[in-house]
Amino acid sequence: MGFFSKRISKIQPSVTISISAKAKSLKEKGKNIINFSAGEPDFDTPDNIKNSGIQAIKDGKTKYTPVNGTEELRNAIIKKFKKENNLDFSHNEITIGCGGKQVIYNALLATIDKGDEIIIPSPYWVSYPDMALIVEGEPKVLECSLENNFKINPQDLEKCITNRTKWLILNSPSNPTGTMYSELELMNIAKILLKHPHVWILSDDLYEHIVFNNLEFKNILQIENSLKSRTLVVNGVSKAYAMTGWRLGYAGGPKELISQMNILQSQSTTHTSSISQAAAIEALNNSDEFIKKNKKIFQERRNIVFSKLNNFDGFNIFLPQGAFYIYVCCNNLMNKKKNDGTLINNDVELTNYLMDEAGVAVVPGEAFGCSNYFRISFATSIPNLEEGCDKIIDACKKLK
Ligand SMILES: Cc1ncc(COP(=O)(O)O)c(C=O)c1O
Repeated sequence: MGFFSKRISKIQPSVTISISAKAKSLKEKGKNIINFSAGEPDFDTPDNIKNSGIQAIKDGKTKYTPVNGTEELRNAIIKKFKKENNLDFSHNEITIGCGGKQVIYNALLATIDKGDEIIIPSPYWVSYPDMALIVEGEPKVLECSLENNFKINPQDLEKCITNRTKWLILNSPSNPTGTMYSELELMNIAKILLKHPHVWILSDDLYEHIVFNNLEFKNILQIENSLKSRTLVVNGVSKAYAMTGWRLGYAGGPKELISQMNILQSQSTTHTSSISQAAAIEALNNSDEFIKKNKKIFQERRNIVFSKLNNFDGFNIFLPQGAFYIYVCCNNLMNKKKNDGTLINNDVELTNYLMDEAGVAVVPGEAFGCSNYFRISFATSIPNLEEGCDKIIDACKKLK
């Protein structure tokens, strides 16, 4: 009998983290690498938010807080849900953890028994299937094609539901595609879910505030409030307020679930940093201008990357409606030859080639459960984006 659990052997280290590490090590060796693999805004946390953290330290807010966060932060979250999503939650329906990641993990750990199924639409955020496996669940991948704008086809969803289905994960705007569901599309998904009352919905709204062309964000609960007794709405401060390192995520959901998640957390991390909690109050209360400004910046970058890559006929590109990623179909480049005569067989080989030949780090689609694609993050400066896209195209043109 080995020392390590069967559970740990089932999961993989994060592909995105390993690509960033490779890019960093090449940079250290003196190679000029443009990094398009980052999953975080390149902006600094705004000063008003930083100052709230600093003030919290000065005021001695450096002790344990309640497991479900300070009352003041819960108030700010309740206010946010009401103001931005028109959703009503009370204090015992709110949980706060070390990032949206921990909140999602807690939800799965609190509800999944061996063999329970979690429906994960693909392309998906890299962590969902691994989290499902850690808690001994079965990730059921529901393929969403480029032809359907990477969205769930409700009939396919219905076919995927079994009596072991515990959760459907919805992530809109999505990492990695930037696709975003309309009200009508959410309504059609809700219609299926209403027929299957044992299926819970995890709405991952982390990219709520990064949406383009004045599109209005809505989650499924805003569309069909009768799902409230089985929906967990997850959000966090990482993406909206450039606070990835502060590690704070939160969720609103049914009090029975929230209470189990809090019990679990009380025996693991207890709570996220008291300083991050103080800063998050400021972020939630006073960031309208920051969000408005960033939307514009991200939209301009999206347009530049899209128009550059779209000019190259080796790629097929989906125009994202939100988040800060572009998911590029590179099917046309498969089986092409590199200068040394070897073939590009798949997206992993193509992204390795782009790193070595073009000096650009991107993430292969395989990591998101959808091969023959790669993901570009446009959370970097316009000069970097222009140079990186040109280099990608030049390198791809060399493939014969
Ligand atoms: C879709 C999605 N959900 C959740 C998270 C978790 O974010 P955090 O733990 O920083 O709140 C991420 C981070 O990349 C993400 O892309």
